[in-house]
Amino acid sequence: LAGSDVIIVSNREPYIHSAGPDGIRCAIPAGGLVSALEPIARGCGGTWIAHGSGSADRETVDDQDRIQVPPDNPSYALRRVWLSPEEEKGYYLGFANEGLWPLCHNAFVRPIFREDDWNHYKTVNARFADAVIEEARTEAPIVIVQDYHFSLLPRMIRERLPNATIVTFWHIPWPNAEVFGICPHATEILDGMLGSDIIGFQVPLFRINFVECIDRTLESRINHENWSVRYGGKTSQVRTYPISIAWPDQPLRTAISSPTAREALGIKPGAKLILAVGRLDYTKGIPEFLQAFEDLLTQHPEHCGRVHLYYVAAPSRGEVTSYRTLHKDCLRISQAINDRFGTEDYKPLLFADRHADRDELSRLYREADVCVVPSLHDGMNLVAKEFVAEREDEQGVLILSRFAGAIQELPEALAVNPFDLSKLTATLRAALKMPRTEQTERMRRMRETVRSKNIYRWAGRLLEDAAHVRARNQLLR
Ligand code: G6P
Repeated sequence: LAGSDVIIVSNREPYIHSAGPDGIRCAIPAGGLVSALEPIARGCGGTWIAHGSGSADRETVDDQDRIQVPPDNPSYALRRVWLSPEEEKGYYLGFANEGLWPLCHNAFVRPIFREDDWNHYKTVNARFADAVIEEARTEAPIVIVQDYHFSLLPRMIRERLPNATIVTFWHIPWPNAEVFGICPHATEILDGMLGSDIIGFQVPLFRINFVECIDRTLESRINHENWSVRYGGKTSQVRTYPISIAWPDQPLRTAISSPTAREALGIKPGAKLILAVGRLDYTKGIPEFLQAFEDLLTQHPEHCGRVHLYYVAAPSRGEVTSYRTLHKDCLRISQAINDRFGTEDYKPLLFADRHADRDELSRLYREADVCVVPSLHDGMNLVAKEFVAEREDEQGVLILSRFAGAIQELPEALAVNPFDLSKLTATLRAALKMPRTEQTERMRRMRETVRSKNIYRWAGRLLEDAAHVRARNQLLR
């Protein structure tokens, strides 16, 4: 598909430019969507449309609001859509992140639906539809819409570009019909998504939930054998495409040398390093895991002085109250653990509330004894796959929430229910004691899975399905 009319749409942009004391800085944001999609955008060329969220983004674009990226080797166009502060507040912070995000995750944060946020959500979806129409080079582009920020966009594009091939990929969980019914705009959202030719989910359960929501809400015909929905004279396929990562390149890894990440953290030789990485989000189970770590030190004091937890939690959506509260809680709990168990030369917990870049993460993954992903609910979780991909030595233990989509492909991880604290603590203990041979056996199998089921396979399957749909639609026209 390289060179064909492919348009990716997401809220988050792959490169953010901000003004700093030494001029404009370009950063890659945290989050699974960008890390998964960026290698695909490079491969396909075409255009990526996203919200211009950096303070210096406007200074980097041409007169059509475009910039060629990646900065070091441009291969596709990034088109920014500029949102007013009110639009950003209503559409992104409000409807998407205070409404749909908690609605779709079982993390027991009550979704908030404000009429004003919904109106901004609709307006912003319409503004992105304008950008897609402007960017389309033909009357039948392939448009790949990403995530819960754009549930109305497929229908809006369909109305103006009836021959487009539209694929929507939903990165987060899809809740059951009871929960989804809470949303006052459930019908419009489902109608909007069915403007797509293909709707993709991470795992089979989310697809089952979605189809059940359609069945209860819209006048439609569902074919349960091939997972298609006939609605308003049009058929949409509902598929699963578990998202993944690009297998890391050799040269980057060998270029990384001393000092080791452990030395930089002040960890003594022989001490164990437990690592956790993720956005500072209430769905990620951070306080729950901190509590399990505290319980480990309390119940098994032989670990004091010998085990460190390094938690890298990238601040996220800081203007939303629940995220600010979580941030404060995590800092308070971390401080309490260090006050209780720390000594002059031992700091059990290093809680880094910042974004770590890929090189730093790569070192940490390779030097950790245990990597923990304690999500309360997660569409996929790419940290689990990144950790596995970095372990050329076939060592290291992965503890993975059974509520993260990734567990379905990585059954060799130690599966945990992060709500069950005593089991979580016991699993941590088992991980710290796991013999090297068992680590190798489990890691080897997980590496085979991640190497073969990588992001190129994800994109290949999705684009191949899109190409079939396009060919069929052309025949029918
Ligand atoms: C999740 C969402 C993505 C989002 C990412 C980072 O992975 O599925 O759509 O980009 O979080 O969140 P943010 O709000 O910073 O874009």
